[in-house]
Amino acid sequence: MRKILFVCLGNICRSPLAEAIFEQKIKEKRLEKKFQSASCGTASYHIGEAPDSRTIAVARKNNIPMAHLGQQLKKQDLKSYDLILAMDKSNFNDILKLASPEDASKVLLFRSFDPEPNDGNVADPWYGNAKDFDLAFEVIDRTCDGLIEALVNQN
Ligand code: 4NP
Repeated sequence: MRKILFVCLGNICRSPLAEAIFEQKIKEKRLEKKFQSASCGTASYHIGEAPDSRTIAVARKNNIPMAHLGQQLKKQDLKSYDLILAMDKSNFNDILKLASPEDASKVLLFRSFDPEPNDGNVADPWYGNAKDFDLAFEVIDRTCDGLIEALVNQN
């Protein structure tokens, strides 16, 4: 069993979407026994809150079930997860501040698994509109495919 943690800033837009999409794909591929995922934010702003209504809307539109409450990244998470995936470079730097030297290599940019050229960031749709959430969905969906392919090939 490999444990994967998706991390953004608020844990109400990008990382809960990544977790929900990843879980759906894992179920479809019958890989639930091999991989387990969760999501959290580097900030404490939205602990205990449901995802943003626009996140829920884009997930529903794409038939992705969502049941998540906001959580903040803890130092212990860096120990207990095998792979910690940052949704952008700023999240990546914040995660590394909590990581001991032996855990730092488990922290990667989520978009390093995107098969398309990119700048390493899933643009934060929080300040945007429904279109920005559609774009975030598309990027996260494609990147989850690349991630699962890489994980399966490692096993
Ligand atoms: P997320 O988006 O990191 O993708 O969940 C954000 C949500 C909330 C805030 C920032 C980003 N905020 O500043 O409250």
